[in-house]
Formats: sequence, structure tokens, C-alpha cells
Amino acid sequence: MLHDKMSKALNEQMNWELYSSYIYLAMSAHFEQVNLRGFAHWMRVQTMEEITHFKRFYDFLTARGGRVVLSQIKAPPSEWKSPLDAFEDVLKHEQEVTRRIHHLADLAVELKDHATGSLLKWFIDEQVEEEASTDEIIQNLKLNQDAPSGLYLIDKELAARAFTVPPDISV
Ligand code: FEO
Repeated sequence: MLHDKMSKALNEQMNWELYSSYIYLAMSAHFEQVNLRGFAHWMRVQTMEEITHFKRFYDFLTARGGRVVLSQIKAPPSEWKSPLDAFEDVLKHEQEVTRRIHHLADLAVELKDHATGSLLKWFIDEQVEEEASTDEIIQNLKLNQDAPSGLYLIDKELAARAFTVPPDISV
């Protein structure tokens, strides 16, 4: 049985994962508007990944007898000055997610909640990857954003991102 404090904290994190999904969907719509279809596709995949993060917490909370309380999702911005501006926002956002995940991990230690600690281990590793892949795109954009052919190549590269539902996540 989950401690009430942890149940509440996991519900807040679920809201944050849905908000993440919402931000990336807004970025995808923005990139569609400026005809960067590969960037738009990458953001759509990111949106789907965030929904699986939400589901991972939701399934865990349900399995551990916690109470799921869905709350309002705040509206994301709707435009960005450039692809670099958008990806810098992605990195800032993911750094905030990391901070929140680490805070949850601290709470799991405080409550001696080993099961939640084990779940959070997956997220801690995931955040390392999320920040690294975003930073790689930022560096690439910094090198190429002023050359239209460079942006075209990055767009092509981002269009190749694949998404599959992880086998341990129920639809
Ligand atoms: Fe669910 Fe991108 O962190």
C-alpha cells in the first residue's frame, strides 16, 4: 500500500507527464505550420513517449492501491522563434522533469518505499537519455541553423525517429 504522501506526489508527476506530452504536441503543431515536417514528426513521437511515461506511473499507482486523481493540465506556449529556441525549451523542460524525478526518488528513500524507488530508477535512467539526445540536437542546430541545407538535413534526420509502445506498457 502506498503512503498518501507518495500517492499525491505520483499524481502530481502524472500531471507533469501529460503536460510534457501537451508541450511537445504544441511544438509539433508549430513545426507543421512552418513546414518542418521532420521536426513535427519528432515532437509527435515525443508526445507519445510522454503518454507512456504517464501510463507507467498510472499503472504503478493502480497496482499499488493508490488513488488516481487526474487534474487540470496547463496550456503550453504555441510558438517559438526558431527550431533552436524550441529545443532549448525542450532541454529546460526535461531538466525540470529530472529535478522532479530526483525529488520523488528522495521521497521514496525517506518513506523506505523500495517499490516506488525501483520504478523511479527507470525514470532516472530515462532522463539521462532524454537530456543527452536533446542536447545533441541543440548542438547540431547551433552548427547548422544558419545554413538552409543544414536545417533540411536535420529535418530529414528527425523524420526517421521511430516509436513503439514498450512491451511492459498496456494500451
Ligand atoms: Fe517524461 Fe520527457 O520526461
